[in-house]
Amino acid sequence: MSNERRLGRLTSLLRRRGIILPSYEIYGGVSGLIDYGPVGARIKRRVIDVWIDHWTSVGNVVEVDSPTITPEPVLVASGHVDEFNDHMSECGACGAVFRSDHLLEGLNPNPNSLEASDLDDKIADSAITCPSCGGFEWKGASPMNLMFPTRIGAKRGGRMAYMRPETAQGMFMLYPALFRHFRQRLPFGAIQTGKAYRNEISPRQGMIRLREFNMAELEYFIDPDELPNPDLGRWDSSVSLLPDPEGPHAGEHSMTFGEALGSGIVKHPTVAWFLALTWDFLVDVGVDPERIRFRQHASTEMAHYASDCWDCELNGEHGWVEAVGIANRTCHDLLSHQEHSGSKLLRGWRQFDSPRTETMEVLTPNGAVIGPTFKGDASAVADALSELTDVPDSLPFILTLADGTNVEVTEEMVTRRVEKVTVHGEYFTPHVIEPAFGIDRIIWHILDHSYSETEKEGKGYTILSLKQDVAPFDVVILPLFDKDGMGELARQISSRVSSMPGIHGDLDVSRSIGRRYARADEIGVPWAITVDHASLEDGTVTVRRRDDQTQVRAEVESLLSHLSSGTIGELF
Ligand code: GLY
Repeated sequence: MSNERRLGRLTSLLRRRGIILPSYEIYGGVSGLIDYGPVGARIKRRVIDVWIDHWTSVGNVVEVDSPTITPEPVLVASGHVDEFNDHMSECGACGAVFRSDHLLEGLNPNPNSLEASDLDDKIADSAITCPSCGGFEWKGASPMNLMFPTRIGAKRGGRMAYMRPETAQGMFMLYPALFRHFRQRLPFGAIQTGKAYRNEISPRQGMIRLREFNMAELEYFIDPDELPNPDLGRWDSSVSLLPDPEGPHAGEHSMTFGEALGSGIVKHPTVAWFLALTWDFLVDVGVDPERIRFRQHASTEMAHYASDCWDCELNGEHGWVEAVGIANRTCHDLLSHQEHSGSKLLRGWRQFDSPRTETMEVLTPNGAVIGPTFKGDASAVADALSELTDVPDSLPFILTLADGTNVEVTEEMVTRRVEKVTVHGEYFTPHVIEPAFGIDRIIWHILDHSYSETEKEGKGYTILSLKQDVAPFDVVILPLFDKDGMGELARQISSRVSSMPGIHGDLDVSRSIGRRYARADEIGVPWAITVDHASLEDGTVTVRRRDDQTQVRAEVESLLSHLSSGTIGELF
């Protein structure tokens, strides 16, 4: 089957079976927005659940949940207001707008790293015509910020805000709470799943480029001076790696994650560890391991916040597509939020092996003034003064207390001294390694890789061979006919399945049994239980395995106990 035909048939299956559908279709639809239907939403929920379990099982990783509406100052500090742009080119003849780099796809190795003037030159040199009208009257490429602006509150009292372009900033805002939660000890991580928004210019490719999409991100906070030594030995298969094309290792390499770290192709041990964990997750949810590769960004391609980034790309009907980005964000975000907000809470503490004696300028509190001025907060002020690492040259100055409140410290409240002090450690700004997953793109590739069409009785027969953990239902329960007590028994079995933790059953009573099997195969349900006349006599049912359509007869009780213990395959 040609690629185009296969893509068309898969897309139509996804729509027909309520997996993925265009949004707002009765009003003409909106490109870049999709719905997960009754079956698709179950697949999405399960993929996200597997993702959450995968990362929280690392041990020092917790889940958080932040707002999607983000006040402007947060995104000014993060760099998104100034830097989160794509270039667009407008056709002067018909007004259609396109991403400038997309117009050059296939003609330039890395068009999204080009400046506006280079984009214009290359569009002109390659005589690119407008994909809408065929004209050749391009207006100059100009940057467009991809964030959706909004306002918090009404009219002049309102505050400028944006719909979040990534979940990551929520974790940076929560850093003080995470630092407390983990008893001030790095490394630790926070994950978040949820919607993010990017006002893509002329999105194409179905669910690959969405304007509102599902992200799943881990921000892993580390001490940059303490490099871990992860045991990568358990990953013994070779994977495909494409290092920076402008760097010393350019070219395609096939090697283990351990070899990639050992040879310096992947520089940071935590990045190597996360590449391996990303691989595990993708294979666990049913991505074909032969169609995964890791591609390092060239320095000109990197996001504004990253010092190194590896994309995990998946191959399918849309070619190689970035599905995960594993970036070393260094201290970019926490440092910038410290500078913009003035908060001192975005730091880590590094304990020295043994205390050091240092000469330093200190401000000792003058209790007779501080006590009456700050009353109940006086000891918090004294503590904050004792922790000052940078004594200001002039007074008064604003001192931030441990709970984040600011107080003004004046000349008469303190005495300036040079002292020999015992220093037990130092503050530093943690670095962040971030694996960021595009859940919709991953789901697309799971569906693409599990879709197959064979021939049955002279007709095409479709199976979605989803792994059970991400199938919309673990099992479908089918009475042969909804009469003579068969429907009743099927309902009883269905309600017992529903009460099993983590197992999801679907009861399907309509139409012929053949059609119901076909529907279950098309939406990827791995097991089917059929209740027939014999079931009423002897308490047995037929169990059918989706992938080879083999059937066995089993006692209801035995079947249910295998289903709940995850060993249903042993019946075959
Ligand atoms: N946080 C990663 C991204 O925005 O793609």
